[in-house]
Amino acid sequence: MNIVKGQNGWIEVICGSMFSGKTEELIRRMRRVEIAKHPYQIFKPTIDNRYHHQYIVSHNKSKLNSTQVDNSRQLYEQVKKETEVVGIDEAQFFDGGLVEVCHKLADEGKRVIVAGLDQDYRGKPFHPIPELLATAEYITKTLAICMQCGNPANRTQRLIDRDEEIIVGEKDIYEARCRKCFSPPKEKK
Ligand code: TMP
Ligand code: MG
Ligand code: ZN
Repeated sequence: MNIVKGQNGWIEVICGSMFSGKTEELIRRMRRVEIAKHPYQIFKPTIDNRYHHQYIVSHNKSKLNSTQVDNSRQLYEQVKKETEVVGIDEAQFFDGGLVEVCHKLADEGKRVIVAGLDQDYRGKPFHPIPELLATAEYITKTLAICMQCGNPANRTQRLIDRDEEIIVGEKDIYEARCRKCFSPPKEKK
């Protein structure tokens, strides 16, 4: 893909429900970059306090070094000139400015790989992923397996009755569910 090296940037989005292998896929792509000895950096938002501050870690515990940033502006400021590939995990936790930052980096000739949840626990689009999906060059949707019935799952069921959009958690409070088994929370008046 990287034919005109250092000149042609683009955006790749990896999205799907929890437990669908988004971080694993990001790590897989970044390892190929590492093997090719291209300079890369990986970022994740400070809000994601699972596992370890210095790494991105998939549910199956594979990991790569990463830098934590508080917002999209800080991310942009930390990207080095020589970096050719920028990886971003848990993109749903970033502010809306992430979309512009990804495009600026791509315009500067960098390959930008963004992973994140496309839907929240209500099954609604999780910003800013929808805006990235609309404008990225490449999109990969990863599917999990429904933890109720075993069908392909693209939604995430929250198992506790709380309505903040952001609650960091794991298998204790979330399950991958298919369209049939997913039941959205009742709208509170
Ligand atoms: P994962 O996609 O790498 O499994 O992580 C998703 C994170 O997002 C996890 O910490 C739970 C959190 N989350 C929310 O904050 N709100 C939501 O609506 C959903 C579905 C997940
Ligand atoms: Mg992940
Ligand atoms: Zn199901």
